[in-house]
Amino acid sequence: MSDPKLLAISGSLRAGSFNTMLLKTAVAAFGSADVTYADIRFPLYDGDLETSDGIPAAVQTLHDQMQAADAIIIATPEYNGNLSGVLKNALDWVSRAKPMPMNDTPVAIMSATGGRTGGVMTQNSLRQCLTPFQPHVLQGPAVAVAMASTVFDETGLLTDERYQKAVQKLMDKLRSRV
Ligand SMILES: Cc1cc2nc3c(=O)[nH]c(=O)nc-3n(C[C@H](O)[C@H](O)[C@H](O)COP(=O)(O)O)c2cc1C
Repeated sequence: MSDPKLLAISGSLRAGSFNTMLLKTAVAAFGSADVTYADIRFPLYDGDLETSDGIPAAVQTLHDQMQAADAIIIATPEYNGNLSGVLKNALDWVSRAKPMPMNDTPVAIMSATGGRTGGVMTQNSLRQCLTPFQPHVLQGPAVAVAMASTVFDETGLLTDERYQKAVQKLMDKLRSRV
């Protein structure tokens, strides 16, 4: 049997992003897969731009990657208690390409933050934002990595055993849904 197609989306564009580190940890824990890392550097959604130029090629690419994916992982930062603007922008754009992607696709969400809560609020927001797409968002175990600067080493490795175990459990569950 061929490897499942796994799409990994980080809600942070930062080169040193802890969410991207977490995403890579999750991809490794998922096991053998045909992995794609999404690029969500899209223009800001603008209805006039859509009318004049149509769906940008980069958005169509993400749409097609979502459609092709057997499973999706999304790691989002928490900005003022909410998901990142770039991730919300990407979801808004991609919802304009038809058909609506991610329908019935298993999706695991996670977050890493500099703060103490690990992004519980941002995960609630992300769940809400995903609702129109009707994916199967796993209910847990929760992966909300707090004080992120203290739990990744300089190579991006997650050094905290509890978080590592939670990531593994979530990825085992995601794999079982493929
Ligand atoms: C605009 C902004 C708002 C933030 N708001 C929160 C917040 O509400 N809760 C929190 O725990 N951290 C907050 N942070 C800190 C982020 O969790 C931290 O910068 C984190 O490393 C961002 O994710 P990244 O490393 O993947 O880029 C905020 C950071 C920024 C830049």
